[in-house]
Amino acid sequence: MKIGRITLSDRASAGIYKDKSGPEIERVIKNLFAEPLEFVSVLIPDDKDQIVSELSRLVDELDCPLVLTTGGTGPSLRDVTPEATKLVLDKELPGFGEIMRMESYKKVRTAILSRATAGIRKRSLIINLPGNPSAISECLSLLGEAIAECLDHIR
Ligand code: MTE
Repeated sequence: MKIGRITLSDRASAGIYKDKSGPEIERVIKNLFAEPLEFVSVLIPDDKDQIVSELSRLVDELDCPLVLTTGGTGPSLRDVTPEATKLVLDKELPGFGEIMRMESYKKVRTAILSRATAGIRKRSLIINLPGNPSAISECLSLLGEAIAECLDHIR
């Protein structure tokens, strides 16, 4: 399965620090799926137009069944990942964001600051994850069953 992963970070994309969240997505998702996985990796700033363009490319041109984003889901002025994601979705699946916030809140009270969402564009599932590397495993490991079921419905 081809998986698109997009890290949204002004500072990581400028080389100020290393992107740890994108590689963490690969590590966690490899534990969830037994089949061979191929990753398409993207690292861009928190820019709505670039996010829309990369999400569209990964779905429309590369036909990735699953696209995971990390970062840009919070309350800061520059955080625009959910807005950009909603612009490209045909159908929103709010349950992904709801369960990530609900389960993460039990451990991290600031989890309610993430506005992460998810949904379907064409035959692809797009899911936002928070940017903190520790949030990737905390959130993504909850979603394996729902991702597999969703892909069965849309592929
Ligand atoms: N969820 C988990 N599981 N772990 C975390 O550390 N950080 C929270 C929240 N969700 C966090 C989390 C914080 S502090 C913020 S600001 C939001 O995710 C948004 O993060 P982002 O803008 O990097 O996406």
